[in-house]
Order: sequence, then structure tokens, then C-alpha cells
Amino acid sequence: MKIYVDSADISEIEAAQALGLCDGVTTNPTLIAKTGKSMTQAIKDICAIVEGPVHAEVLSLDKEGIIKEGMELAKVSDSIVVKIPMCHDGLKAVRHFYDEGIPTNVTLIFSASQAILAAKAGASNVCPFVGRLDDISVAGSDLIEDIVTIFDNYPEIETQIIVASVRSPMHVVDSALLGADIFTIPGKVLTQMEKHPLTDIGIAKFLEDAKKFT
Ligand code: G3P
Repeated sequence: MKIYVDSADISEIEAAQALGLCDGVTTNPTLIAKTGKSMTQAIKDICAIVEGPVHAEVLSLDKEGIIKEGMELAKVSDSIVVKIPMCHDGLKAVRHFYDEGIPTNVTLIFSASQAILAAKAGASNVCPFVGRLDDISVAGSDLIEDIVTIFDNYPEIETQIIVASVRSPMHVVDSALLGADIFTIPGKVLTQMEKHPLTDIGIAKFLEDAKKFT
């Protein structure tokens, strides 16, 4: 199991690293915009502190544009994984990067058929978005189950499943029960995963009782 931090915020990434919970980082244009930095600067700053893969997303939707942007991003660091939105030309670009030996992540996956195409195109990773499916009353965990089952049925598929759009600890637990490879988790959810009210009550009681020591 791998845990990535779904953030472009350096302090959030460092907080996860302090717990040994940062096997990699995923970003997207929304997360980069929150930093107030340029894409290149934000990615450079993350690569400077993270040892594992750093996923950086292209904005282009045409094959040539995706390849150009992806190659530029890949120059920033050997850790870069080129993140490509699921689209027709994106699949063509994935094949190009596969041939070049540059790892990719096909993102915005909302169906098992999209995951199959991305895997066959040579994607190193696919990012199904569980939270956004739950938002529209479709069970995100059903999609994870389908993709896990399909990829397990065909051992030659090496594409890793990164569970994304994680909004709650249950998204992680449900996906872990299904055997997803990687969870990309915002700092807020990592913190929520630590907490249980009975743990807090238990600690308070132990400390209270410790006052009775002779
Ligand atoms: O990695 C994609 C993820 O950040 C999307 O999350 O919460 O915007 O659906 P969300």
C-alpha cells in the first residue's frame, strides 16, 4: 500500500512526511492555483522535498500540446509523473510517453471502460475519483471494485490504481478493503484518519486515573 499526499501545499506535504505518510504527491491545476505559484515553481518546490513520484498535470487536450507540456514537466525532475486528463488525444499521448519511458497518470477516471483504455494505452497509473462520484449519488467504491477486479483478471496489466478525490477516511478504508494500490489523500483527511472519540475518552480516563497513583 502506498499513500500519496493530494496537495501542492508544502507545509501540508511536510506534515505528512513527519508521519512517514508521503510515498508521493499528486497535484492538479486547482491545487497549484491555491499556492499562488506558477506550475513550474510549485512542482520544483515539491520535488525539492519529496523523494517519491510527483504527479504534475498538463492543461492541453491535443496530443502535440500534451506531449510538449509533459516533456517540459518531465525535465523538472526524474520524479515527475505526467498527469493527463482522460480524453481521446490524451490516450495517444500516453502511448508516446510509454514509448519514451516517462511514467503517466490518466486522471478524471469515472468509468471502468476509461480505466481499461488508459491501461491498454500504457498508463502507469489511473486516477478514479471516488468523491466526485459519491457527489452525484453514484457509489465511488463500486468503480474501485470494478477496476481492481478487471486489472486483477489480467496480470499483464501493470497500471496502478490511485484512489483520488478522497474526502473522508471511509473512502480510504473502503478502497483498501478492495485492494487499491495507492491512496492520494488531502492533509485534512489524513488528520481525520487519526481520530476516534473513544481514543480521546480513553486517554482522558487514563490520565485522570494516573493522578491516583501513590
Ligand atoms: O487528485 C484529484 C483530487 O484532488 C480531486 O479531489 O475533492 O476536488 O474531487 P476533489
